[in-house]
Amino acid sequence: MITKITTDIVQAANALKENQVIGIPTETVYGLAANALCPKAVSNIFSVKQRPTSNPLILHVANLQQAESYIQEFHDELKVLYMQFSPGPITFLVPKTALVPDEITSGSSLVAVRFPSHPLFLALLNQLDFPVAAPSANKYGSVSPTRAEEVLAQLNGEIPLILDGGSCQYGLESTIVGMDGNRVIVYRLGSIDLDELSARLGYIPAIKNQAEHSPLAPGMVKYHYATKTPLHYLTKELKSEENTGYIFIHTIPEGFPSEQCMTLSSTGDLRDVARNLYHTLITMDECGFHDIYIEKPLAEGLGLTILDRLQRATAKFN
Ligand code: TXA
Ligand code: MG
Repeated sequence: MITKITTDIVQAANALKENQVIGIPTETVYGLAANALCPKAVSNIFSVKQRPTSNPLILHVANLQQAESYIQEFHDELKVLYMQFSPGPITFLVPKTALVPDEITSGSSLVAVRFPSHPLFLALLNQLDFPVAAPSANKYGSVSPTRAEEVLAQLNGEIPLILDGGSCQYGLESTIVGMDGNRVIVYRLGSIDLDELSARLGYIPAIKNQAEHSPLAPGMVKYHYATKTPLHYLTKELKSEENTGYIFIHTIPEGFPSEQCMTLSSTGDLRDVARNLYHTLITMDECGFHDIYIEKPLAEGLGLTILDRLQRATAKFN
């Protein structure tokens, strides 16, 4: 199969109507999309991604009205967050109706629903009369792509088409929230940070993002977002070595050769760091270094999301 990169949403819509699996842009990371109401198409997502079917998928729709027939209840607290952050990088874990195939939720009675803001994806959704199921467009366990070319690099020959929407605005996956009684809880830290949620809710939501017993949100698996090259945290004492790549937040310290180094932001703004993180990891991974070291951001705001991803990415090599 030849994988074509295109900006034509009509071609993308036709492929989805034919129950094919395609790459699509979102404001967070690229997705691997299919008709959510077609179990065969959904099962193809799992096989292309090489993902265990026990790990459920997010349902993407244009707005709450379009989601009505798929969700049983949407708590008022979640509505507050919806009003503030949707369309955008937030996903709501809510009770599903029978119209949502069990293949999407891996048998759970809860479905994850997201309302994306990427203009091309929104235009695509508005051409369809079904919701779109989509995990991130990486092979299971690998780094999520934030550019069409990075989807191609991972899935060339396995999908017919990638809709090219440029580089992703946020660069990190959506924040997943749900309810615990009358309180919002966070299942996955993401592009909307805890401070932004708290400011809206009037309390700091609890985080439940570690797989303790059964993996409720299996994005919680310990090893994830991993490079092929061993990835480690930079420590202060570290001196530069040959054949080693270094990723700094903002400035390259003295003594580190520039051809072995990349920075994540020219200003140190965590939004830039987030936007560039996966792209930088993927780029460094192709350089043939025997190890990569990355500087830790401060554990606050979006830094917490970035640390969550780096923790899982480095865990494999520790
Ligand atoms: O930003 C995003 O959310 C991107 C874009 C493409 O929308 N999608 C994404 O999907 O990150 P994925 O499949 O890579 O991660 C979704 C996470 C997984 O950890 C999955 O286990 C969890 O959401 N999830 C999905 N449905 C769930 C459900 N019904 N119950 C619990 N967890 C669920
Ligand atoms: Mg993913």
